[in-house]
Amino acid sequence: MRYIHTIWISIALISLATSCAYQDGDRNIEYSPNMYHSIPLEPYSQVKDDWAQGAEPQTIFKNGLNAQNAPEGTLPRTEGWYEKEAYQPYHLENDTAGYRISAEGLKSPFESVGYEYNGVAVDCSAETFQRGKRLYEVYCQVCHGASGQGNGNLTSKGNKPFDGIVPDYTSDVGTGLKNLPAGKMFHSITYGKGQMGSYASQMTPQQRWEVISYIQYFQRK
Ligand code: HEC
Repeated sequence: MRYIHTIWISIALISLATSCAYQDGDRNIEYSPNMYHSIPLEPYSQVKDDWAQGAEPQTIFKNGLNAQNAPEGTLPRTEGWYEKEAYQPYHLENDTAGYRISAEGLKSPFESVGYEYNGVAVDCSAETFQRGKRLYEVYCQVCHGASGQGNGNLTSKGNKPFDGIVPDYTSDVGTGLKNLPAGKMFHSITYGKGQMGSYASQMTPQQRWEVISYIQYFQRK
């Protein structure tokens, strides 16, 4: 009889020792699974982590992307002059020192490709120039005039305060701006000058340089 007890106790001990096998880190019972497995949409995950069924591609949007692609026409915020400049604050102050430094310190991002408009050499490509011309016609011509002589509609019919105060790009006498450096133009278009308002909110830096290409055509004519 004593042996039978010993055998039973041994069997019990052996089963106790072997029943708790290590199972690859899985918990046999998971307490409150919702605490571990997120049910809400994971914005940057393209899968639904469904704890009961495992991960599977999400189906909330038809294209299967939770983080949607940027809308068409979105500008990247890296690389290249335009993207960098467009999002950076203009570094010169709106004062006389800033205006003085702009003459030397600011350079057009465009390069001359030998394009001529009406026989006048301009420092950019035909497309850039045409964009500048269009911008000028939309925003500037009303004061500065179709010929750049300060005789736009707003200035030539006794309209105060602009009548007679818009400078002539083609002349180098008096208030004429024939020799105004491009950097100063950029500065003035950005901050405005005298009776002329700022165009910083209407035109990106690139567009300001485009319109300057067109103004330089008047200066060189
Ligand atoms: C409402 C009329 C008006 C409009 C529109 C206008 N300007 Fe002017 N602009 C002026 C006047 C007035 C001056 C002279 C400012 C001064 O020297 O006091 C001037 C001066 C300038 C100068 C010379 C700045 C300097 O440093 O001496 C530039 C360059 C210029 N404008 C560019 C533009 C461009 C580019 C546009 C269009 C995006 C534009 N302007 C639109 C009225 C206007």
